[in-house]
Amino acid sequence: MAYQECINCGKKYEINEIVYFCKKCGDLLEIKYDYNAINKALSKSNWQKVPLSVWRYRDFMPVQDFSKIVSLNEGGTGFHTSKRLGKILGIRQLYVKNEGENPTGSFKDRGMTVGVTKAVELGVKSVICASTGNTSASLAAYAARAGLECAVLIPAGKIAYGKLSQAMIYGAKVIQVRGNFDESLEIVLKLSEKYKDIYLLNSINPFRIEGQKTLGFEICDQLNQKMPDRIVVPVGNAGNISAIWKGLKEYHRLGFLHKLPKMTGIQAAGSAPIVYAVKNGSDTVIPVTSPETVATAIRIGAPVSWKKALRAIRESNGTAEMVTDEEILNAQKLLAQTEGLFVEPASASSIAGLKKLIDQGDVDRDEHVVCVTTGHGLKDPDTAIKICKKPIEVKADIEAIEKILGLKKRNPLVNSEVIS
Ligand code: F0G
Repeated sequence: MAYQECINCGKKYEINEIVYFCKKCGDLLEIKYDYNAINKALSKSNWQKVPLSVWRYRDFMPVQDFSKIVSLNEGGTGFHTSKRLGKILGIRQLYVKNEGENPTGSFKDRGMTVGVTKAVELGVKSVICASTGNTSASLAAYAARAGLECAVLIPAGKIAYGKLSQAMIYGAKVIQVRGNFDESLEIVLKLSEKYKDIYLLNSINPFRIEGQKTLGFEICDQLNQKMPDRIVVPVGNAGNISAIWKGLKEYHRLGFLHKLPKMTGIQAAGSAPIVYAVKNGSDTVIPVTSPETVATAIRIGAPVSWKKALRAIRESNGTAEMVTDEEILNAQKLLAQTEGLFVEPASASSIAGLKKLIDQGDVDRDEHVVCVTTGHGLKDPDTAIKICKKPIEVKADIEAIEKILGLKKRNPLVNSEVIS
């Protein structure tokens, strides 16, 4: 049987109790299992024959009634061998795990399918979150699918348009708060404490983390259990890096994986409290009061899951690094133009961070590395358009276009001569 447990004092809570922070010491909770029971369930099921997806791993989940699953077919995202990019970065083996291929275009869907399923099991009426954009898009979609009321708080003027349009079209009550993400999170925390039937689905909700841990399982399974040396992850509120690490430790404990990778977190230079803590060897994180970055998804100064993230990085012997907006945007373009993968700026921070760590000599060129890209590029088309050359506008005239393409200098017969 699964239960909830405080990561600090170990106090246990029943699986169906709605509780976000430990009532004894105020720390975060996580879901714990009877691993013998999981082993037993796995041995009776043919889970390894189920196509890659979040629910292939249902026996690793704290869900009691599988008939209540709220799904849009999340997970099973692309795992791309990235030879051309790897060569430019100067590393031998590079893969990109592209989470933009999820139903609403980000890794959040892995967590939301489990979180909203739990909301349905618990019988709550409405769900809420604070968000820099992707969480709100994902929650709005899953709430619509489940027939739940949904409200999302987002920072006014600081969210990419693709994400805003998603939350709106899925029918959520969208509230633009004049303030940053951290302030919105504080408000939704208070609201969900005050009104017990408003279920909070930010990543402090440990059920979200259970869905997101499947990202770790999938990387492992897509590599046929041969773990890479390192997994590089963009970090904002710090739920995802914690979730991947939790999944990998569980897989290791159950014998599906023999070596654990170094977890490497990347933040934007204007909002990098976790990176400072890692670099200073500190056990606490000092919030950044006015976080700023072009990567709006990770514009977060007070990451709620900082303690879990520090543990993931330290236990795995990993590291953390920060990257400037310029490095992020260069990486976004480079990934798109070498591998055909269009990701949003926050996602490209993993590529930018890896480049920096290789250049600094902190990552060995012989390492096998997986970079996680967390959200689709179409979430934020405005930024992409700003950093690319403007398209050329001409009249509808073949000669004008031949000129632009430099075809005037080419011999039009060369190819047909070769073919004949
Ligand atoms: N990448 C993208 C595209 C994100 O949307 C987020 C977080 C992260 C990385 C960081 O993940 O918070 O688990 O460390 N976005 C949240 C949101 C905060 O509201 O959409 P994290």
